[in-house]
Amino acid sequence: MAENSPPPLIEWDDSLLVGETTIDEQHKLLAEQLNRLHASLVHHAQLEEVVALLKAVLQHIEIHFAYEERLMTSIGYKNMNSHLALHAHLLEDLRSVIRDVASRRYEELEEMLENYLKFWLLDHIQHVDKPLGLELKKSMA
Ligand SMILES: [Fe+2]
Repeated sequence: MAENSPPPLIEWDDSLLVGETTIDEQHKLLAEQLNRLHASLVHHAQLEEVVALLKAVLQHIEIHFAYEERLMTSIGYKNMNSHLALHAHLLEDLRSVIRDVASRRYEELEEMLENYLKFWLLDHIQHVDKPLGLELKKSMA
């Protein structure tokens, strides 16, 4: 094990798969990005690096949410509105973190990652994206 690498924030395992290949790849990449961001905070990386990683997370999430939204539209998903509201809320929070990142301490950002983003992702995958995955599978049967 490399000496200075902290344990990853998120350990990916296949219980997180929702069964739609692109969504699963995007979730995996998001977990990797959050792990990278976490490592950068633990090592007190330059603020510019932290901001760049946060922006990459935001950009990836925007692409991912748009993809899910297209799929939901294509099958006339009944829970679409509540699902989209959750997405919108997260985007708002993430944008506000990026807006005032310079005034935050690393510990505060780390806590936000550990106690909010990490659990948001894991919880969202289990309880919101998995039901969508099932509906997608049904719609293709
Ligand atoms: Fe989602």
